[in-house]
Amino acid sequence: MPKTTVRSPSNIAFIKYWGARDLKRVIPANPSLSMTLRNCFSRTTVEWLDEEGEHEIRWRAGGGGFETAPPAFAERVRRHLDRLRDWSKSGGRFRVATENSFPSAAGMASSASGFSALTLATLGALGREVSTAEQSVLARRSGSGSAARSVIGGYVEWPADESPSAEGVECYARQVASADHWDLRNVIAVVERGAKSTSSLDGHRRATTSPYWDTRQRRLPECLAAVREAIAGRDLERLGTVVEAEAIDLHCVAMTSEPPIFYWQPATLTVLAEVRAMRRDGVSAFSTMDAGANVHVICSPESENEVAARLSRLDLDLSLIHDGVGAGPVVENEHLF
Ligand code: PMV
Repeated sequence: MPKTTVRSPSNIAFIKYWGARDLKRVIPANPSLSMTLRNCFSRTTVEWLDEEGEHEIRWRAGGGGFETAPPAFAERVRRHLDRLRDWSKSGGRFRVATENSFPSAAGMASSASGFSALTLATLGALGREVSTAEQSVLARRSGSGSAARSVIGGYVEWPADESPSAEGVECYARQVASADHWDLRNVIAVVERGAKSTSSLDGHRRATTSPYWDTRQRRLPECLAAVREAIAGRDLERLGTVVEAEAIDLHCVAMTSEPPIFYWQPATLTVLAEVRAMRRDGVSAFSTMDAGANVHVICSPESENEVAARLSRLDLDLSLIHDGVGAGPVVENEHLF
């Protein structure tokens, strides 16, 4: 199908990718494990044109119409389109339009959903059907490692090892449990809508300069094992305790990198304190943050409304997004152009 539209969700990592063994090839220093979301998504239409020329890349930010994408973003998209075109050994050029259902580049993994949707829609436009493992590898090569997990629904692990799959692809994500296995919710406290000051790419680059890098690496295998077991046993207390500590570890590494990266805002700390207060009051809720100021509060469906009500009562300029585990990307019949 020369024109294909894919809606791909974002994901929230419970064990996070931070620092790479090979940043160019996007081979992470550590395995990561995430929950694919359902309401935070990117929708992307890609059309393949059998003619020479530049790719056309448009996006819709906010409520307006589609416009030419800003240069830095367009450049990343262009490079990935070239990569996929070379991989498929086809010529031609692409026309792309993309939009997000949530704030971009604010620590909510818009690159994960964006590059997952772009990869899958481009494969569709080129008429190439490949395994999920290969989709994950191609999404990873975009430069956004977390995109490797967003091509899959439910609970997804991205190992750091490079042992090849049956079809010979390496370092790809795979599902550890389906979305139906456990209905977890994520109430996102959006305290910052603008783009974050330091990209995750720079964060990966600087991570090893932190004196806490080794400490986090040593703790990770145990944390990963605990998260896997907690998901298998649907144990929110166990999952949440590890996930909250792991996010703080990552931000300690970021804050002590050279030069340091402070993603948290005062409002972040207020939300974190409120989540701890909820637990003291018997509400089972746990925080995690990506590379940004916004806080993802992981909870059960039964606690979701209580969590949202308590966050809304805080004296902060925040908005809430209700999200939860989702089944992964879908091909849509309606196109963006
Ligand atoms: O995929 P990247 O390069 O944008 O890095 C993702 C970094 C985190 O969101 C902080 C962690 C993760 O695993 O999603």
